[in-house]
Amino acid sequence: MGKKKIAVMTSGGDAPGMNACIRAVVRTTLHEGHSIFGIYGGYTGLINGELMPLNRHSVSNIIQKGGTFLKTSRCETFRHKSGRRRAADKINEWAIEGLIVIGGDGSFRGAHALFKEHNIPVIGVPATIDNDIFGTDLTIGYDTAVTTALHSIDKIRDTAASHNRLFIVEVMGRNAGFIALEVGICGGAEEILVPETKSDLKKLGDEIKTWSKAGKKSSLIVVAEGDDLGNANTIADKVKEAYNIESHVCVLGHTQRGGSPTATDRVLASRLGFHAVHEFLKGKEDIMVGWKSNQLNTIPLPQAWEKKKPLDKDLMNLYSVLSS
Ligand code: F6P
Repeated sequence: MGKKKIAVMTSGGDAPGMNACIRAVVRTTLHEGHSIFGIYGGYTGLINGELMPLNRHSVSNIIQKGGTFLKTSRCETFRHKSGRRRAADKINEWAIEGLIVIGGDGSFRGAHALFKEHNIPVIGVPATIDNDIFGTDLTIGYDTAVTTALHSIDKIRDTAASHNRLFIVEVMGRNAGFIALEVGICGGAEEILVPETKSDLKKLGDEIKTWSKAGKKSSLIVVAEGDDLGNANTIADKVKEAYNIESHVCVLGHTQRGGSPTATDRVLASRLGFHAVHEFLKGKEDIMVGWKSNQLNTIPLPQAWEKKKPLDKDLMNLYSVLSS
């Protein structure tokens, strides 16, 4: 096999562990005797021709850092055929033979379109704090986001208990409740509201009343930002209006996206970066690498968004038993 030119980029919302993954891609590629380039600034950078050669020192001292040193973007231009044509022209001009995209489902849709329309070999590596990608039990960044949110929730519990208050804590997840469910269980939440199941104002109001009747002085509701009842502020307003129940709201927001990745995320990112390079060198294209049932996994890239990854039913059941 001749020496190949591979490029790596991060795209979409950043996730802790992206740096560890870039590092693994760079060092694995060099170890196998090929050359590696970084695209700076996601698809926007690709369209603008922001390519840089990387060596093993380019990725020194980054495994512990949150964010992505290659930067990232949500690129509107790339959603259009004309934008993808410009991106493909750059890749061909540079003679890049494979593109490794570290990101979430939106980034994978873009990568797949680049493959279909311009025959660019792409490999997806799942990185999003939401964990909402089929074909992998974990996405890079999820474990860190849960840990970060949990630290905040533990602190909120202290003040909630001191003041006998009800808190509604909003975690990230526009369409997915993975963070909410896990954080809610670990933080001992009385109620967890997720977009995957129908939330009911009356049921929620009745439950809150039951808690206080049962002698509970403080309580915590964890809600995913995309819940059908609304975000934390909306739910607080509804509960106040319908039941005259006061609550305090805390929106954890982008704190969940930052910070040093946990050990779990660093190992996952390293494994997936390594696997992505090897799959490309075996001639695979238009695939996503993942970690499923404690093993490396590979799926056709479109399955990543076409198939729905369900919330863990056992965890849902566990939460309803433990919070009752
Ligand atoms: O997809 C990851 C995520 O953090 C979601 O949980 C959240 O809804 C969204 O990104 C926020 O995106 P942005 O930072 O672009 O506003």
